[in-house]
Amino acid sequence: MGTWTENYLLAAGLEKGMNVLDLGSGMGDVTLLAAEIVGPSGSVTGIDRDPVVLQKAKERVQAQGHSAPVTFLHSEILNFRPKSQFDAIIGRYVLLYQPDPSRVLSHAAAFLRRGGILCFHELSFGTPASSYPATSLFGDTVKLIGEVIRRSGINPDFGLFLAKTFADAGFSRPTIKADVPVGGEAGSYIYGWATETVKTLLPVIETLGLGTAHDLQIETLAQRMEEEAVVNHSELVGPLQVGAWLRT
Ligand SMILES: C[S@@+](CC[C@H](N)C(=O)[O-])C[C@H]1O[C@@H](n2cnc3c(N)ncnc32)[C@H](O)[C@@H]1O
Repeated sequence: MGTWTENYLLAAGLEKGMNVLDLGSGMGDVTLLAAEIVGPSGSVTGIDRDPVVLQKAKERVQAQGHSAPVTFLHSEILNFRPKSQFDAIIGRYVLLYQPDPSRVLSHAAAFLRRGGILCFHELSFGTPASSYPATSLFGDTVKLIGEVIRRSGINPDFGLFLAKTFADAGFSRPTIKADVPVGGEAGSYIYGWATETVKTLLPVIETLGLGTAHDLQIETLAQRMEEEAVVNHSELVGPLQVGAWLRT
């Protein structure tokens, strides 16, 4: 999904020399994308509340290098109080997990300089992902992911509520653009994406009684999904990716 994130950041106006804050930086993928854009005269700070993932992000960034000064800080977004302001505040797949996303947005925006950029990339699972002609493995896998999201109390349509989230946080309507992952060919990334997502969610899937690694035959899932799609000449459609941005 990196190309879309990068497109949203560039369209939002991210450029060389900016100081950027990445909310919910996870393994640092978006932090690194932003570092490429802002270059050595800029800087990127990633914050995350999960110390394990943060440590992995630090190691990863040290190992592969980066084009701008990058700092990772352990913090819950609502407890984060930096000493200086940022030129841009960005995030991917983070607002949808917040019980009150507009509160998080307005909290973070207090650290944004006047005229600074807010840019978020979220997704919508609500429109059921599908395959044409239908394939059962991909369809069932994406239905399972959607069900876990719904049962965890997360709005599966969140990506389509970004205009409302910005409005509730007191901002004008952002520019919104959406993209859709489509796969189905041999070697498509979509099988790995769906399978890795299920693997990440396995502890929750098992707790909710929706299946086990054994039921799902997780180790061969991607390969079986690919075989089914290729043989049926199917187009597999993933969740809607939504970018929203504005300058304050
Ligand atoms: C789905 S991951 C996305 C990671 C990264 N942005 C990416 O797209 O690769 C969401 C991350 O946000 C972090 N997160 C969620 N809510 C947070 C909060 N309120 N404060 C700090 N971190 C948060 C989680 O710990 C997790 O690492």
